Amino acid sequence: MAGQDAKKGYSKTFVATIGVESKEILGYYCTSASSIEFENIPQNLSKRLPKYPAPAMLIGRLAVNKLIQGQRLGERLLMHALSRAVRATSEIAIFAVRVDALDEEVKKFYLHYEFVPFEGKEFSLLLPMKTIMKSRNN
Ligand SMILES: CC(C)(COP(=O)(O)OP(=O)(O)OC[C@H]1O[C@@H](n2cnc3c(N)ncnc32)[C@H](O)[C@@H]1OP(=O)(O)O)[C@@H](O)C(=O)NCCC(=O)NCCS
Repeated sequence: MAGQDAKKGYSKTFVATIGVESKEILGYYCTSASSIEFENIPQNLSKRLPKYPAPAMLIGRLAVNKLIQGQRLGERLLMHALSRAVRATSEIAIFAVRVDALDEEVKKFYLHYEFVPFEGKEFSLLLPMKTIMKSRNN
């Protein structure tokens, strides 16, 4: 599926393995260009924003092999993906990184990293680029 999506230009998948030779996938995430409807941006962030969809980078399907969950690979994958957003933003404007959490548990993981829920969409969350940049400058 990752290969098909990449060929179509819909997403890029990045996998974590032990060493470059290993075929065992420990975790992965996908990235795509995306957007966030103005109505879904929380009001405290949407003041003074134009009333059309905001440019975003989507992190899709971030997951860690069940056998090694709780050993900080999820955090490393997330930080890796956020670094890609930082690099991309030097070429393409990105207002925020967005994720669509599968369920309440996964949502809590993103809340832990200061993602904020969309207005009116329970399982979609965003992290403004400004917050990402600020945390990297500290
Ligand atoms: C959510 C997930 C990515 C977290 O990865 P992980 O490697 O287990 O988490 P980490 O060890 O990196 O955790 C880092 C921090 O996040 C916190 N955290 C992890 N999962 C959490 C959860 N569900 N709720 C709240 N906090 C969570 C940890 O407590 C830790 O906090 P700390 O900084 O205070 O120590 C992983 O559990 C997972 O893949 N879940 C299934 C996701 C899935 O099914 N995706 C869909 C595939 S299509």
